[in-house]
Amino acid sequence: DVMKELLGLKDLEKKVKSLLPVEEVIIVAGDSDLSPWVKKEMGRACVACMKEKLSDQSIVAVTGGTTMAAVADMMMPDPKQHGILFVPARGGLGEHVENQANTICAKMAEKATGNYRLLHVPDHLSQEAYQSLIEEPAVKEVLQLIKSSNIVVHGIGDAITMAERRKTSREDMEKIKQRHAVAEAFGYYFNQAGEVVHKVQTIGIQLEDIKRVQHVIAVAGGASKAKAIKAYMKQAPRSILITDEGAARALTGEP
Ligand code: BG6
Repeated sequence: DVMKELLGLKDLEKKVKSLLPVEEVIIVAGDSDLSPWVKKEMGRACVACMKEKLSDQSIVAVTGGTTMAAVADMMMPDPKQHGILFVPARGGLGEHVENQANTICAKMAEKATGNYRLLHVPDHLSQEAYQSLIEEPAVKEVLQLIKSSNIVVHGIGDAITMAERRKTSREDMEKIKQRHAVAEAFGYYFNQAGEVVHKVQTIGIQLEDIKRVQHVIAVAGGASKAKAIKAYMKQAPRSILITDEGAARALTGEP
């Protein structure tokens, strides 16, 4: 914290908090666009934050992404956290295995010596497949756990970056561009006003569900995500934002 004072990060946190409707802002030094270790620092900050909020019976829902992978990397066993259950927030969203929520969820549980349950559902579900899958007892059970999670930890992405990273169809790509999506979280795409303009069809947590979750922690950094963070937060359920200096300075318009 002495370091934070010295670097002026405390002031920056206050400034970002005054600009966004968030509960709390935690900023780490550096810009993860330029220095990969900054992601790990956000991971460390997130783990510390989770530790404060977790209790023995907590159910933690997590999304995928490289930032969440960094959070998983920094996870440590905590005697207070033995009964913790990790679940993926949503089903398949078209990510590579290492970026998938299932992978991250299992890794977090392993590192924290907690338990985990996975959601085995394919990407690009048709309406019929979706309807029958959610009736499958095994899926239903995990869905029930996901919906009763007390903590959600998630990443935020730039809309086009995410649409390109997932193998988004030409049709959906057109839609995402035409509707000026700038942010992505949980498989939802948002425009500058924070309105949903497109959504990937999968099961798991829906945006409405997040409003009922006790603690929501969003982890996203890098100057390139400033626009996405700002847009997403406009209408997002009240969250704790963990970000880096790069994103924060871009957000506040500071050099
Ligand atoms: C995805 C999440 O896996 O990761 C997205 O489902 C999120 O909601 C994205 O936007 C962020 O990825 P990264 O690699 O920038 O942390």
